[in-house]
Amino acid sequence: MTQAIASTIVHDVIGIGFGPSNLALAIALQERAESQGPLDVLFLDKQADYRWHGNTLVTQSELQISFLKDLVTLRNPTSPYSFVNYLKTHGRLVDFINLGTFYPCRMEFNDYLRWVAGHFQDQSRYGEEVLAIEPVLHQHKVEALRVISRSAQGQETVRTTRSAVVSAGGTPRIPEAFKALKGDSRVFHHSQYLERMSRQPCVSGKPMRVAIIGGGQSAAEAFIDLNDSYPSVQVDLILRGSALKPADDSPFVNEVFSPEFTDLMYSQNTAERERMIVEYQSTNYSVVDIDLIERIYGIFYRQKVSGIPRHAFRSLTCVEQAVAGADGIDLALRNTASGDILVRQYDAVILATGYERQMHRQLLAPLAEYLGDYNVDRDYRLITDDRCKAGIYMQGFCQASHGLSDTLLSILPIRADEIAASLYSHTKGGERNRSVLDVLLATAS
Ligand SMILES: Cc1cc2nc3c(=O)[nH]c(=O)nc-3n(C[C@H](O)[C@H](O)[C@H](O)COP(=O)(O)OP(=O)(O)OC[C@H]3O[C@@H](n4cnc5c(N)ncnc54)[C@H](O)[C@@H]3O)c2cc1C
Ligand SMILES: NC(=O)c1ccc[n+]([C@@H]2O[C@H](COP(=O)([O-])OP(=O)(O)OC[C@H]3O[C@@H](n4cnc5c(N)ncnc54)[C@H](OP(=O)(O)O)[C@@H]3O)[C@@H](O)[C@H]2O)c1
Repeated sequence: MTQAIASTIVHDVIGIGFGPSNLALAIALQERAESQGPLDVLFLDKQADYRWHGNTLVTQSELQISFLKDLVTLRNPTSPYSFVNYLKTHGRLVDFINLGTFYPCRMEFNDYLRWVAGHFQDQSRYGEEVLAIEPVLHQHKVEALRVISRSAQGQETVRTTRSAVVSAGGTPRIPEAFKALKGDSRVFHHSQYLERMSRQPCVSGKPMRVAIIGGGQSAAEAFIDLNDSYPSVQVDLILRGSALKPADDSPFVNEVFSPEFTDLMYSQNTAERERMIVEYQSTNYSVVDIDLIERIYGIFYRQKVSGIPRHAFRSLTCVEQAVAGADGIDLALRNTASGDILVRQYDAVILATGYERQMHRQLLAPLAEYLGDYNVDRDYRLITDDRCKAGIYMQGFCQASHGLSDTLLSILPIRADEIAASLYSHTKGGERNRSVLDVLLATAS
């Protein structure tokens, strides 16, 4: 095995993941550097290059939030990294205005994010998956963090930083019935949709029976894409609920995604926070944009008119068992109203079953004894015991304390600047720390 590369640089901040959350942070830190001096910042991302949920960027997919909630505008509308400036730079500002929408397609927003990421090439490394974050100990104190990453070729790199910001996003949720089918190319999560579909027989027009599991936005977008792009595909849309339900984006409700709501949420006790998450669940989870629901209903209605039942809508249905065979994947489907079991065979199964947010626990496991129950302060810094001097921040893993906007684009510019402010104050007085770290690194080599 090749030896790990150990960098001798002590970074001020290493960001894990370079999605929208850490992109927004990169901008906020750059803004502060103008008045407060630069920090040594590095972002690591496991993808080969910048892509925003790249395998889900189907033609019909639109942003589910106003473009004004880009990486900067809420905090600094004059920033050169705004979506409007991106449009202007790419010669499409007038055309975009003519579109008359707040909701660009996700392909375009991906291109915007990519364009911003391109401005931070010297601060980012792609193709490096962070495996673990470990303590750098001095006299029983965690003075810094060791970030261990691995490239696609298997080369490990060890870096040292005084703070880390974990913004690694969600991980595909795989229902229990499908766990044993990991590795079967006919069963995949929606996060791999485009790449996996490009290898299916329907690409060359062969008939296929496809099951989509789930009733959220991902399931709805996969259904529309299969219907529109693959005429030889017959889809069963299989959901536990009784109907596809609309995402509530009405204006009063939408205030839960305002920066002020984060303060309200954070000031509540645990029970009240949980109640508020449940109350507003229908803004984001297990829900679908109303226009997409209407399109899907229209497709099923036209089937009734034509009498050709191409697709099936299987609500109130649970997958009891999934068995892989030579001819297909057999799903045992239980109707939760009648109790009836139906076994159906599919050529492919798409798990549009959402995402889990547990990656932080895996990455920070070597620091577990200092972290308690992964509670975060208002500034998104993990609350550690006194022995931990290093700063550990999280974005996208704080929904329980900071509210539903935590996993979304809603307040990125504000959150990024709150973290940037905290990082600067944490780094102040860093000279003592730096000399301790120099000693530690010298003795380690
Ligand atoms: C299909 C889809 C569409 C969405 N559309 C919207 C929308 O329209 N509006 C909205 O507000 N929200 C939307 N969301 C929610 C989404 O979470 C946010 O838009 C946004 O992507 C969150 O940014 P992030 O940087 O926190 O996480 P992510 O965008 O998930 O980025 C995390 C990054 O970390 C990297 N990474 C992960 N693990 C590691 C590791 N161990 N080492 C190194 N790198 C790692 C990943 O490669 C990725 O680039 C959508 C989510 C999905 C799945
Ligand atoms: N265009 C866009 O901007 C776009 C596109 C896709 C996704 N997104 C965003 O991405 C996030 C996630 O959306 P999502 O649709 O992927 O996930 P989601 O909203 O969490 O929905 C997951 C669906 O899977 C079902 N499910 C979960 N576990 C299951 C199990 N064990 N067995 C059967 N069904 C199960 C859920 O059913 P229950 O309801 O019964 O629990 C739900 O219907 C949201 O923020 C969404 O807005 C945005």
